[in-house]
Amino acid sequence: MPNYRIAWLPGDGIGIEVCEAARMVLDAVEFPADYIRGDIGWEFWRKEGDALPARTVDLLRSTDCAFFGAITSKPAPEAQRELAPELQGRGLSYRSPIVRMRQLLDLYVCLRPCKSFPGNPLNYRENIDLVVFRENTEGMYIGVEFPRVPEKFFEEPGMARIPRDAAISIRSITREGSRRIVEAAFQYAVRNGRRKVTAVHKANVLRATCGVFLEAAQEVAARYPQVQFDTANVDAICMWLLKNPQNYDVIVTTNLFGDILSDLCAQLVGGMGFGYSGNIGEKYAVFEPTHGSAPKYAGQYKVNPIATILAAEMMLDWLGEKDKGARIEQAVAAVVAAGKVRTYDMGGSASTLDMARAVCEALSAARVVG
Ligand code: IPM
Ligand code: MG
Repeated sequence: MPNYRIAWLPGDGIGIEVCEAARMVLDAVEFPADYIRGDIGWEFWRKEGDALPARTVDLLRSTDCAFFGAITSKPAPEAQRELAPELQGRGLSYRSPIVRMRQLLDLYVCLRPCKSFPGNPLNYRENIDLVVFRENTEGMYIGVEFPRVPEKFFEEPGMARIPRDAAISIRSITREGSRRIVEAAFQYAVRNGRRKVTAVHKANVLRATCGVFLEAAQEVAARYPQVQFDTANVDAICMWLLKNPQNYDVIVTTNLFGDILSDLCAQLVGGMGFGYSGNIGEKYAVFEPTHGSAPKYAGQYKVNPIATILAAEMMLDWLGEKDKGARIEQAVAAVVAAGKVRTYDMGGSASTLDMARAVCEALSAARVVG
């Protein structure tokens, strides 16, 4: 069988270091792949006015899936200032490349598992094992925003009380978008023997948009009587997740709520060093650690690569290389449980690559035993 073709997008900041660590583990598990490097990130915004150049989009379209590290993004005024002088004044505006990849390739599932590995000193509680399904293509992240209210909006009676200088963001929730993310959550529950799916919304206030989501969730749930279904308001579940995190299993929600909730859930099991994501569509997927580029740590080989290593595991699972994926997870679990190699976030002094090496050693130890 020919090698898998992986678009390799380390990005910038610590993205580069954590991807190097993940590659060591992918090589140690003998994953047969060609890695084709792609340009993405702040540098390309500054030099070319596009953080996701067209050649990178072509690369995504010609590979099996992509692996992404992290990139720096800055607020609009700084983004404009840092643009190369010859590109200034052309009306270019920065948009997050990861959000664009999700939308361009219709990667509608953002899958974010949060599991407390035994022995992790950062666990908020033991025995947490939940998964967030975040809708990844619509909601608050469609990029339709107005720095001032367009005049014609005032034709709507509901807009009468809005000051003219208000900034407006549009949130769009579709029936189909809601149906397919909830369906994905239920399918995952069935395939992985999960007991419950919780749909998270705020339909008491956002009646139109969350109403659509909730109705779609109820319709899908009715087709899966073997899986428990419940619903929760997003504010309330933030509290309950801290109170009883073990009560949750599969959580499914809209884009912005999923962004926020998945950081909360990651913190329950160790924070950003343990938060990883699959952005998954019907035919393509992009795997990444959930954290950002942490510019203040860039180049220090200090941050925890476990999130990125687990993202590699998820990539292998998605490609059907489940044995190799399972071996990576066992190796990570063994290193965490042994507690000898810990990065600074875990209270230790091991470097990014020390941690990767420890995982590689645990992989070969498991092989000798197995
Ligand atoms: C995430 C991140 C991104 C998001 C940012 C970097 C645009 O926070 O993947 O959760 O908001 O989706
Ligand atoms: Mg986020």
